[in-house]
Amino acid sequence: MPVITTVEDLRKIYQRRTPRMFYDYCESGSWTEQTFRDNVSDFSKLRLRQRVAVDMNNRSTRSTMIGEDVAMPVALAPVGLTGMQSADGEIKAAKAAEAFGVPFTLSTMSICSIEDVAEHTTRPFWMQVYTLKDDDFMRRLFDRAKAANCSAAVITVDLQLMGQRHKDVKNGLSAPPKLTPKSIANMATKVHWGLGMLGTKRRFFGNIVGHAKGVTDPSSLTTWTAEAFDQSLDWDRIRQFRAMWDGKLIIKGILDAEDAKQALNVGADAIIVSNHGGRQLDGAMSSIRMLPMIMDAVGDKIEVHLDSGIRSGQDVLKALALGAKGTYIGRAFVYGLGAMGQEGVTKALEVIHKELDLSMGLCGVQDVNALSRDNLYVPQGFEDPRVLL
Ligand SMILES: Cc1cc2nc3c(=O)[nH]c(=O)nc-3n(C[C@H](O)[C@H](O)[C@H](O)COP(=O)(O)O)c2cc1C
Repeated sequence: MPVITTVEDLRKIYQRRTPRMFYDYCESGSWTEQTFRDNVSDFSKLRLRQRVAVDMNNRSTRSTMIGEDVAMPVALAPVGLTGMQSADGEIKAAKAAEAFGVPFTLSTMSICSIEDVAEHTTRPFWMQVYTLKDDDFMRRLFDRAKAANCSAAVITVDLQLMGQRHKDVKNGLSAPPKLTPKSIANMATKVHWGLGMLGTKRRFFGNIVGHAKGVTDPSSLTTWTAEAFDQSLDWDRIRQFRAMWDGKLIIKGILDAEDAKQALNVGADAIIVSNHGGRQLDGAMSSIRMLPMIMDAVGDKIEVHLDSGIRSGQDVLKALALGAKGTYIGRAFVYGLGAMGQEGVTKALEVIHKELDLSMGLCGVQDVNALSRDNLYVPQGFEDPRVLL
């Protein structure tokens, strides 16, 4: 077994072990992938302020997200088709999150259903909700999440339309994968993955198939999104969803201060500053650069979380220092899952935790909740989207 010290180590193993179609699905951004790349590179423009001869004993990364205790303020983001990256992937990831003490968010577009994940975990997880036209489906989705004891709903508002990822079109992405000579030839080389898939019944969109009406091809993400998603979504409709769910509500996909104020007005408990990991509007700003402006607009009235581009504990530290109360990892945990299943997700969390904990100490901070802008050097113009860095 190779020695794994970084999230990038996990990505390399994941790439070797997973069919091309699913690796590409994860490791892509939309169109030119500019925003996908900026999400990562903009983190590296922030620098940490080293302090010395400060008591670095008794450090703690413990915190809360929407009032729930977390071992570190890093949740697993909702990722569609996780159960195609590794057999029963959502269950494996949820179990790893539970054991580590961080929240797990289940995607609407998961392979394992809400009920499957609830059956295999004890800690309440969070349910991500896409906004569909079908009112019955939406009500039932919230009801199912309630029955499964989910402690929060995460409504994603940045995917009324789907940004195009060229590789998914070329690969004919679907779940289960369509059998073409090319896909069979590739899958035949991924023995461990294939054996896992043969050993599970969970190979379809578990929350959709059998629950949504009028779906002509439920295996195709693109077809289904185009048919079922509500392109007319507005804040009034989001208010209706707020009324369907009486638990904690998180609105995901905010990248603009005006939209952050709207989310506050509909009664959300938290927002996630996110550009969907660079998978939607290519050319949009990175999440980390938009965070300060959004903090200025709503930071004292609502909990602000952030995702997109986090690959290390140092990235987490930077987001927290700029004011986020919590962060999420998407690809970083998928790399671990595809590389080594549940153990790999745990590994990704361990790597990030260690980086966060030690870097925090080297900044002279003992408590993760004490991080602030004082711990950073922020380049001039970083928080101004008009400045090219
Ligand atoms: C393969 C993949 C699938 C995703 N599926 C969903 C989804 O079903 N629902 C959702 O709200 N976000 C989805 N996202 C976005 C993530 O929740 C998150 O915003 C993003 O991954 C954060 O960026 P990062 O991967 O750089 O950490 C997906 C992201 C990836 C990489």
